Amino acid sequence: MKKSLILVGTQWGDEGKGKIVDYFSQKFDAVCRFQGGHNAGHTIYKEDEKFVLHLIPSGVFYDHASCYIGQGVILSLESLLDEIEQLESRGISLEGKLRISRYCSLLLPIHAKIDQLREDNKNAIGTTRRGIGPAYEDKTARRSIKAFDLEDNDLLEDKLKSLVDYYNFQIKNIHNAEPYDFETVLKDLKDVYQKTAKYFGDVTDSLEDIYENGGNILYEGAQGTMLDVDYGTYPYVTSSNTLATSVGIGSGFPKSIYSDVLGVAKAYTTRVGAGPFPTELFCDDGEKIAKLGHEFGATTGRPRRCGWLDLVALKYSAKLNNLTSLCITKLDVLDEFESIKVCIGYKVDDEEIPFKSRLLHKAEPIYKEFAGWKKSLNDCTNYDSLPTETLSFLSFIEEFVGVDISVVSNGPNRDDLIHR
Ligand code: IMP
Repeated sequence: MKKSLILVGTQWGDEGKGKIVDYFSQKFDAVCRFQGGHNAGHTIYKEDEKFVLHLIPSGVFYDHASCYIGQGVILSLESLLDEIEQLESRGISLEGKLRISRYCSLLLPIHAKIDQLREDNKNAIGTTRRGIGPAYEDKTARRSIKAFDLEDNDLLEDKLKSLVDYYNFQIKNIHNAEPYDFETVLKDLKDVYQKTAKYFGDVTDSLEDIYENGGNILYEGAQGTMLDVDYGTYPYVTSSNTLATSVGIGSGFPKSIYSDVLGVAKAYTTRVGAGPFPTELFCDDGEKIAKLGHEFGATTGRPRRCGWLDLVALKYSAKLNNLTSLCITKLDVLDEFESIKVCIGYKVDDEEIPFKSRLLHKAEPIYKEFAGWKKSLNDCTNYDSLPTETLSFLSFIEEFVGVDISVVSNGPNRDDLIHR
C-alpha cells in the first residue's frame, strides 16, 4: 500500500504550500481539500503561467490525479464556478476529474456580506471578508444549506427562507444596510448550482476506493496551524480546524489519519490580519523580507506582516500536527542578509512564557543569531552542497523542533526545490 500524505501549514498560512502540493501531486493518485474555503490562495506557476487556486485542489494540473473537496470545506458555488471557468478557459478541463462532497455546507453571498459588515465595525480581526466565519457559524448552528439540499426544492426554499430572514434581521437592525431579496437569493443559488451540479458526489466512497485499490492520496491543508480555531491565536484565527488531525472529519475518510504529515514553514514568518505575532519586525529587515519575498496576500492582495522565524511556534505546531517531516520554503529570500535570527523563547517582564499564553501579544522574542550565507542559493541542487551557514541554520531548526527537513524551496519556480 502506498503511503498517503497530509500537507499542512505550520505558521499563519501563506507558507508557500501551493508550490509544494503541486510538486507532490505528481506522485499521488488523488488530491483532497479537507477544510477552509476560498479564503485560501494557493499560487502555482505552470510553464511561466501563474494560477491562483482558492478551492480546487492543486492536483488539477496533472492528468493522472483526481481531485476531491471533502465535506469539511465550506463551499462558495460562485467562487467554484469562477475557478472552473478560469481553468477551462486556459485549457484545463475538470470534467471527470473533480468530485465535491454533496454534504458540503454552502457559503452564500449573504455570508460574505455579513463578514464585510462586521469587519467594517470595531473589533475587526482582519478576515479575508469572504464569509468564512458566518458560513462555519451556520454549519455549527445547524442552519447551513448543504449542497444536497438543492436536490429538494421544498426543503431548499424552507431552509433558505429562514436563513435569509435570520441575516436580513441583522443586516437591517444591526448594520443599517440593505436587506437581501429572498427570491433573488433563491434564483441565483439555483442557477449557480445547476452549472456545478455535475461535480457533486460521495467523496468518502471515492477516497476509500482509491485507498483500497492501493492508491495514495495527498491531503491538501489550507491556512496554517496558528490560525486553527481551537489551537491558534484565538480569536485571531480562521473558523476551521487547520491541523492535520482534522483530516479524518474533513475528508470523511477515517483512514486518512494514518498518513505521513509534511509541515510547511517559511524560513521566516508572515501573518495577515490582526493578532499576536511575537517576531514581527518594524525595521528595515522586515521591509526587506516583504520586498524580496513578495509578501502580498494571494486572496486579498493585502501586504503581509513579516518577521523572523519563530521556532517556539514551529515546535508547538510540529507537536500538534504530529509532523513526520518539514519543508522549509523561501529560503532564498534570506540570501542577502548579513545575519539571520530565529526566535527560541519569549519573555514578558523577564519571565519566560510559552506559546500558548494569554500574554503572547506582549511577548518579547529571545533570538539566536546566525551568520547569513550572502550568496544566491538558486543554483544549488543538492542539500549537502548548500553553504555551511545555510546548513547550520537548517540543522538548528531540525534540532530545536525535533523534526527532520526533507525538502527546501530555493526559488519561486516550480523546479526550485532541493530534496534530501
Ligand atoms: P477568515 O478565514 O477569512 O475568516 O480570516 C480569519 C483570519 O485568517 C484572518 O487573519 C485572515 O487573514 C486569516 N486567513 C484566512 N485564510 C488565510 C490564508 O489562506 N492565508 C493566510 N491567512 C489567512
